[in-house]
Amino acid sequence: MKYSQVTYWYHEIIRSQVPEGGIYIDATMGNGNDTLLFCKMAGKIGRVYAFDIQEKALEKTKELLAAHGVSDSARLILDSHEYMDRYIGENTADAIIFNFGYLPGGSHEIATAPDTSIIAVSKALKILKPGALLCLCIYSGGDTGFEEKEKLLAYIKELPPREYTVIVNQYYNRRNNPPLPVFIFKEQESTEWKPIANE
Ligand SMILES: C[S@@+](CC[C@H](N)C(=O)[O-])C[C@H]1O[C@@H](n2cnc3c(N)ncnc32)[C@H](O)[C@@H]1O
Repeated sequence: MKYSQVTYWYHEIIRSQVPEGGIYIDATMGNGNDTLLFCKMAGKIGRVYAFDIQEKALEKTKELLAAHGVSDSARLILDSHEYMDRYIGENTADAIIFNFGYLPGGSHEIATAPDTSIIAVSKALKILKPGALLCLCIYSGGDTGFEEKEKLLAYIKELPPREYTVIVNQYYNRRNNPPLPVFIFKEQESTEWKPIANE
């Protein structure tokens, strides 16, 4: 059942919520599947910035984008996502994806790490445009452990509700620590709550 795959699920949400022809960031390029989605959405007028710390990820992604004829939309950056603010300004991105963990088919030793992931997510929230969407796909258990998941969940739970809406999805009846897709919507404007007279 295709709907059960986590990437299918969050790609569908992104396609339904995010306008085409925008600016998008893939914070964890890997084999390039999320970069490819964004390049298709970018079309001729949009732009995609994709980050990874492994040369192998850039090579794989380059091949994938070339095979789909969408290489021109993307800038592939060999750098850690915690420095994404060196490349993209605040309030500019229409959507950002983090798919945490290690490169499928690569070394399990090279994976996202709790502290740098938190720094990167906090920068991503600033880089998002008001009304835009941040998607996190969080893994736990096995090689990854639980620290990254716990730190990320603790961090996003404290985001101010007037500025962000945080939706955590669950594969509720699956065992063995299934991935956790998270959607964070940046509100259009921070609306101060004011009591109405006599309230
Ligand atoms: C699960 S994979 C991403 C899958 C990918 N989005 C795809 O569609 O194939 C996670 C990737 O994050 C990368 N990564 C780990 N730490 C990173 C960091 N600090 N900055 C950017 N990428 C990082 C890994 O090298 C790995 O390729």
